[in-house]
Amino acid sequence: MKLLVTGGLGFIGSNFILRALENPKLKITNIDACLYGSNPLNVKQVNNNSRYKYVKGNITNKRLVDKLVSNVDAVINFAAESHVDRSISDPKPFIDSNIYGIYVLLESIRKYKKKLVQISTDEVFGSLKSSSATERYPYSPSSPYSASKAAAENLVNSYFVTYDSDVITTRCTNNYGPRQSPEKLIPKTILLAERNKKIPIYGVGKNIRDWIFVLDHCDAVLKVLFKGKKGDSYNISADNEIDNLRIVKKVLKIMGKSEDLIEFIVDRPGHDFRYSLNSNRIRKNLSWKPAHRLEEGLRQTVEWYQQNREWTRHISDNAFTISWKTR
Ligand SMILES: NC(=O)c1ccc[n+]([C@@H]2O[C@H](COP(=O)([O-])OP(=O)(O)OC[C@H]3O[C@@H](n4cnc5c(N)ncnc54)[C@H](O)[C@@H]3O)[C@@H](O)[C@H]2O)c1
Repeated sequence: MKLLVTGGLGFIGSNFILRALENPKLKITNIDACLYGSNPLNVKQVNNNSRYKYVKGNITNKRLVDKLVSNVDAVINFAAESHVDRSISDPKPFIDSNIYGIYVLLESIRKYKKKLVQISTDEVFGSLKSSSATERYPYSPSSPYSASKAAAENLVNSYFVTYDSDVITTRCTNNYGPRQSPEKLIPKTILLAERNKKIPIYGVGKNIRDWIFVLDHCDAVLKVLFKGKKGDSYNISADNEIDNLRIVKKVLKIMGKSEDLIEFIVDRPGHDFRYSLNSNRIRKNLSWKPAHRLEEGLRQTVEWYQQNREWTRHISDNAFTISWKTR
């Protein structure tokens, strides 16, 4: 089976490529425009693999996308602008990659009659007080990022309803693990703590996220790719709801660092309080469940950043200090 993975130089896309290539029956072409979140080192270990090919390009380039899609069996769309803070200071790249980009991919899979898995996020449902969102929960996005992802979901669904396209959407909670951009909470905490620098936390750190180890997400996407039902969507979560302050404290404990490194900073606008997904559908219908407990996954993540000096060496202190306000 030949796959076109988009955004495969980024955090989740690269972990997905490394995981998927463990299956000798899969061949992967990776299209990535080298934008925010990308790092060529993420896929260094498979660059010489004969079942892997990298194409530098943008998913908004119709001609290139057509050429690549016509040569594969399925597309998995990880490519997206992914950082909420950046979407607050400049929404335009989010509209381009996350909405126009999926339109180009959908037109191409319609033309060549191929399958597409769209990777989406729990953020499309907005902030939830108490319950967990099922696949039928109404959209209520708060940031330009989550609004662009909800728009993409709607487009994907419309191609199923209108053109009977072979599409599926997955929605996942916050990922953590190796190869994540240093601007995101967990790598930022690890890398700043390593340097004994202050770790900024928005507000009073009470915002709740549900965390999943990135390889558990990748395995769920593979299940959906092979066994998912056309036109359906699947929520993916590992039931690890925890507030930002507590997760940072857990990381510091694993590293043997002082909680005095924590520094509270002014909150960002529209900061959703809590996301939560009900993932019963994928667990029941596709027999998926997460393999990593939070503590174990965090420990592996800390070790990865500590051991991969080539990856972390070039990250300047500026990468951590810029917030939505200062862009
Ligand atoms: N990180 C999370 O916790 C999380 C949770 C749920 C869903 N998601 C979704 O998973 C996907 C991947 O997220 P991530 O954290 O790996 O992001 P990331 O920012 O680390 O990687 C995104 C990659 O996409 C590429 N890209 C962006 N726009 C492109 C375009 N127009 N053409 C080609 N390449 C382009 C970038 O260069 C980058 O390599 C996104 O769709 C995101 O919305 C992420």
